[in-house]
Amino acid sequence: MIKLEDFHRLISPRPTVLVTTVDEKGREDVAAFSWVMPVSFDPPLVAIAIGPNKHSYWNITRINEFVVNIPTEKMLEKVWIAGGPWDPKQSKIEKAKLKTKPSELVRPPRLADCPVNIECMVENARKAGDHVIVIGKVVKIHVKEDAIDERGNLKVDVVRPPLHVADNLFAFPYVTKSV
Ligand SMILES: Cc1cc2nc3c(=O)[nH]c(=O)nc-3n(C[C@H](O)[C@H](O)[C@H](O)COP(=O)(O)O)c2cc1C
Repeated sequence: MIKLEDFHRLISPRPTVLVTTVDEKGREDVAAFSWVMPVSFDPPLVAIAIGPNKHSYWNITRINEFVVNIPTEKMLEKVWIAGGPWDPKQSKIEKAKLKTKPSELVRPPRLADCPVNIECMVENARKAGDHVIVIGKVVKIHVKEDAIDERGNLKVDVVRPPLHVADNLFAFPYVTKSV
């Protein structure tokens, strides 16, 4: 029998994002998150459930800014490194050999190899059990031309973003259908 706390393994697969953050001294961090969802069109809001023991949470709640970056299948190893523990001696951005570019409206950098970078400012945060739902207002979007179609939809069969099942298991089930 599956344990109740394992329910999240059943609500899967989920898009995985790489969130970049920065601390007061300008030290950058990256982490993988898949408990992520859009929650409002206007204003445009995105929610992420983050464990309050995560370094990203510390950075986000102090700086009030973060960037949601959408990785590609080719970046899977980097996603896994970003999902590893924060190390004060070596930034995971360096460890994963991720290239960065300055953001336009927020201090955390954006990831150059990700076809989508969404700059966010914290709108609010609400405790939910052992996680905190951080809600960010989308203030700027950067998209590589070939990553979206004419309606602005992500070309999932081109980008092939890693979908998280749980732990180190990812899915790449890309067939698109319109109804
Ligand atoms: C694919 C993937 C998805 C993850 N999703 C979440 C999540 O939604 N929320 C969370 O708190 N941690 C999540 N984690 C775990 C964090 O990435 C991990 O705890 C990481 O060490 C946090 O880094 P930080 O301490 O530098 O912020 C995920 C890990 C992986 C590999």
